[in-house]
Amino acid sequence: MRIVLVGPPGAGKGTQAAFLAKNLSIPHISTGDLFRANISQGTELGKQAKAYMDAGNLVPDEVTIGMAKDRMAQSDAVNGFLLDGFPRNVSQAESLDEALKADDVKLDAVLDLEVPEDEVVKRIAGRRVCRNESSHVFHVTYSPPKREGVCDVCGGELYQRGDDSEDTVRKRLEVYHTQTEPIIDYYRAQGLVVTISALGKVDEVTKRAMDALKGDK
Ligand code: AP5
Ligand code: ZN
Repeated sequence: MRIVLVGPPGAGKGTQAAFLAKNLSIPHISTGDLFRANISQGTELGKQAKAYMDAGNLVPDEVTIGMAKDRMAQSDAVNGFLLDGFPRNVSQAESLDEALKADDVKLDAVLDLEVPEDEVVKRIAGRRVCRNESSHVFHVTYSPPKREGVCDVCGGELYQRGDDSEDTVRKRLEVYHTQTEPIIDYYRAQGLVVTISALGKVDEVTKRAMDALKGDK
């Protein structure tokens, strides 16, 4: 399956993507995680992305689209993928469509996670991520690690993302409404959008998402 996951910052895209990708046996491709890995490795791409991310803005398409396409071209993504955080504006969605068309394949679904803004703020405020691997995600109240400040998966140090400060979150939400939400209409016109509520326990949301993807919402 080829799936795009969309939803505001802190909706639980990364959390759900990990379970959905496992259930569906497809790679989880997160442009946010790719950027963070580049930043921690000190690559040129990471240096280009950092200032935009710290300010809560989108990284320019010239950098992002190439990185996403390179990742999708890797062999584990040949039979499908779950995209998390890409596309994030209409021009990225158009580029993705062109790339898929060139390979004679199509998206199967765009899963839209709906969460009220006050819940998003609570989820982001308590989020802690692993320094070794930013897809290892915890929450101080909702999914606390067994040992405070230590990743359950790899033992790495947990920290609060620099772009999770109150001001930057406000900016990221604004960017989501103005630049990312329009892709929902873009994909709705293609009949691809399935919207689910992302409220409730993590496993309840995963079940809802799997049912929606199977078509029995
Ligand atoms: P990115 O990393 O994609 O951030 P985001 O979209 O803002 O999403 P988040 O990672 O904040 O949240 P999430 O929805 O994954 O939630 P999570 O599962 O962690 O992008 C960061 C930046 O990179 C962007 O601002 C931009 O600069 C750049 N970028 C990335 N892609 C780009 C692109 N395509 N173009 C241009 N720039 C790009 O969950 C949040 C918290 O809630 C966690 O603590 C979790 O434990 C908890 N939680 C999850 N589910 C539940 C639940 N059901 N109940 C209770 N708590 C829950
Ligand atoms: Zn870890």
